[in-house]
Parts: sequence; C-alpha cells; structure tokens
Amino acid sequence: MNRTERLAEIDASIRSCTGCKLHLSRKQAVPGSGPVDSKIMLIGEAPGFHENEQGLPFVGAAGNFLDSMLESIQMKRSSVYITNIIKCRPPQNRDPEPEEILACSSFLEEQIALIQPKAIITLGRFSMMRYFPNARISAIHGQARMVDDRLIIPMYHPAAALHQPSLRSVVEQDFHQIPSLLEKSNQAGYTPSTRESDAPDEPEQLSMF
Ligand code: URA
Repeated sequence: MNRTERLAEIDASIRSCTGCKLHLSRKQAVPGSGPVDSKIMLIGEAPGFHENEQGLPFVGAAGNFLDSMLESIQMKRSSVYITNIIKCRPPQNRDPEPEEILACSSFLEEQIALIQPKAIITLGRFSMMRYFPNARISAIHGQARMVDDRLIIPMYHPAAALHQPSLRSVVEQDFHQIPSLLEKSNQAGYTPSTRESDAPDEPEQLSMF
C-alpha cells in the first residue's frame, strides 16, 4: 500500500469512527485535506458548521481568514496538510472535551506519522496543548520550538482574530514570521533543544529566533 492509499485508509476509518459521542450528532467527520507529502501541517481545533456540512477542514469564516493569511506568506493551501485535533463537530461548536480529544488522538498520531511534516503549525489552544500542555497561548504564540525533531509553531486560532479585532494584527504578524522560522530551522547546525516529554511550561524562545 502506498502512502496515498494509507492516508485514504485513515480517512475512511475517521469517517466511520464511533469512538465518542460526537459521531451521534455529526453530519460527517472531517479527516483533513492536503497532500500526503506535505512539509507543513496545520492543526486546528474542531470542525464547525460548514466543515460538518462539507467534510473539509477550515471552509467557513475562520477558513477564509486562514486562506488569506496563507496567501499573505505565499503559502499555497493546496501544498499543506490541514486537520484538527478532533474530527467531528461538537454541538454548538462548544470546546472539545478531554475524552473526545483522547478518542481522536490516535488518528492525529497516524496522520503525523504518515505525513512526517517538517513543521506543525498549531492553531488555537487545544492543538497547542498537544505539545505544550501547560503553556499559555498569549505567552508562546508565534514562537517556534523543536519538539521531537519537528518544528512546532503555536499560533492563535484564526477565529480568535475574527472575534477579537485587537488580535488580528497579532495573528498577521505571527503569520508573517513563519517563512523565516521555517528557513532558520532548515539551516545546517540547527539542533533540537526540546523534546515533548520535557517541554517547559512556557519554553524559552530558541536563541536563534
Ligand atoms: N475551526 C477549526 O478549528 N477547524 C476547522 O476545521 C474549522 C474551524
């Protein structure tokens, strides 16, 4: 089985998953979208209304804003893999519950293990918490960290910028830093300084950044 076929197999198991109560209220699960050889993965929180309707991630208002942020740094949406911490819409878009995150976590692990992105951009608190469980997003947004040989860049959720206009320019600035963060992480001599297991609560920014 090649990697594309394996990704399709993971998608199919997500679509038929009954691992938590969200399968009862979903219209359809939202596995993710993008090429299996993407160098960059973006991880959001959970599907919303439009994603539940279409089966695709980030296709509503937050998705439009995300698209404009990606365009602003000449990053093609079609060249990155986009998924969420949980794959089914929580009723009324409430926060994901711990058991829902746990029930979905093996899918995300399988997606990451297959795609092997060089960098992961987390969008919002819930995906940040996968890598930095005790950090505050207000303290570490826009700062890159190496976790298990992979660059992790925590960002505010695009919807935060829509709901809180004061955050919009912060999100824009954070996105504009992404190309140089990726470039620096590719330079020879770059060494990982943090592993997932010993990531500090609010990790120091890598000195080179
Ligand atoms: N918000 C998310 O976190 N993910 C989506 O797919 C859409 C909105």
